[in-house]
Amino acid sequence: MLRTVVCVSGGGTNLQAILDAVKSGQVTNTEIIAVISNNAGAYALTRAEENGIPGMLLSPKDYPDRESYHAAFMKKMRELSPDLIVLAGFLVRIPKEMTTEFEGKIINIHPSLIPSFCGVGYYGLKVHEAVLARGVKITGATVHFVDAGMDEGPIIAQKAVRVEEDDTPEILQRRVMEEAEWILLPQAIDDIANNRLTVQNGYVRKG
Ligand code: GRF
Repeated sequence: MLRTVVCVSGGGTNLQAILDAVKSGQVTNTEIIAVISNNAGAYALTRAEENGIPGMLLSPKDYPDRESYHAAFMKKMRELSPDLIVLAGFLVRIPKEMTTEFEGKIINIHPSLIPSFCGVGYYGLKVHEAVLARGVKITGATVHFVDAGMDEGPIIAQKAVRVEEDDTPEILQRRVMEEAEWILLPQAIDDIANNRLTVQNGYVRKG
């Protein structure tokens, strides 16, 4: 069983997609052991509770500085000792130390086709606003392993999504979620849980 921790900040629709896929058997060999949120108001915590999964709040606001927050985050992760950490709409940059200690065991979903519209400042709706401002016709989502960089690390999977002329950031965000994110993320977890992925020299190979 791949003991998996999911980190969230908001609505948790990606978390829901993972939970549904585990329940339906589309994702196998996987157990969601905990959900960690940086945000007390995250609906994702309610989703965790409804599914009988321990939800934990770990907010930078409750610590005097980043250092002590990072220390508490690391302590919690060491206690949980997961095989996989999934950043599913997690808006806090994770400690560098975590990327080293859990190297190859952290994945992230980003709502664009990396390397477009990613890096510092590109999160949540801002990504879709930038896509519309640039006028690109195709966007999408990317699942990748997390290293010390921002939206860097070996790419596991990507899926393209069309941009329509009258899209708003909210409409586009929803389409990217429905057509890409909710499909790619559970699929990537299943691939990892069933040892289908190997990483060589920064490239992910499947099969
Ligand atoms: C998703 O678009 C994710 O890719 C982004 O933030 C959003 C989170 O949505 N980084 P949810 O909390 O999973 O509903």
